[in-house]
Amino acid sequence: MGSIGVLLMAHSLPYLEQELEKRYNLFRMWEYPQKAQFLKQNAASIRAVVGTSSAGADAELIEALPKLEIVSSFSVGVDKVDLNKCKEKGIRVTNTPDVLTDEVADLTIGLILALLRRICECDRYVRAGKWKQGDYKLTTKFSGKTVGIIGLGRIGTAIAKRAEGFNCSICYYSRTEKRDSKYKYYPSVVELASNCHILVVACPLTEETHHIINREVMNALGPKGYLINIGRGKHVDEPELVSALLEGRLGGAGIDVFECEPNVPEELFGLENVVLLPHVGSATVETRTAMADLVLGNLEAHFLGKPLLTPLV
Ligand code: DGY
Repeated sequence: MGSIGVLLMAHSLPYLEQELEKRYNLFRMWEYPQKAQFLKQNAASIRAVVGTSSAGADAELIEALPKLEIVSSFSVGVDKVDLNKCKEKGIRVTNTPDVLTDEVADLTIGLILALLRRICECDRYVRAGKWKQGDYKLTTKFSGKTVGIIGLGRIGTAIAKRAEGFNCSICYYSRTEKRDSKYKYYPSVVELASNCHILVVACPLTEETHHIINREVMNALGPKGYLINIGRGKHVDEPELVSALLEGRLGGAGIDVFECEPNVPEELFGLENVVLLPHVGSATVETRTAMADLVLGNLEAHFLGKPLLTPLV
């Protein structure tokens, strides 16, 4: 398959890049700052795009690739892929569901514990030699709290199961009530936020969920409430989050994803009631390798004319 052109949109796992290079004629987008010139010379040979959570295939790129057959995303979230354009043009789309569910759910619990028990701050306190001056201040209990989850899909459900292990009550919001769910449903995010201690964003980013966490939701969560975002940065109105934290209208936030990654609002750096992570929900060797294998397996299946492993479109 060495003559098949594959365009990789952003750095990913070295293993994935090496395997793509072995199997295909691989182009790395970031090596071509003159995008228009690159496309003029190579567009006709590119039959697949491999996207990531930071760079996918927008309408402009799809239009510029006349031979594009498949977009395979090295992520479960495909908000960087224009799915409608792909459908319109008969281009297949795959992502990496299931293999990262446990990892993201585990990290969510880690973020909650880090935030409520102030684990990162305690670590900084010990490293700074401050323990000798006295005990660290008291923190907040997690067990028994009410956890509100936005999006009760694979990841949301895995988070709920873990939180149940901490004797938490679970409630949720999603577009429609899940008939078979044992958890309490709220038909609006504001109602959910008003009725939980910890609000977790675990839904896909779409036009409807863009800024689903706005000023009203943060006010409803309140000064004793905690926001956890392991979805996408654009789920949260970030300037409003900064104001809510600075003004004490929100208790704290654990954030793995930001609106303009890798940029993080600098106002957050001085706050002790936030835990900031660099989008590492799925970032373990085991899971990223499994995600890479799905990308490779989907491309192979497509070019051999076999059923795709994880088709979205
Ligand atoms: C995903 O798969 O969408 C994650 O955000 C990538 O880490």
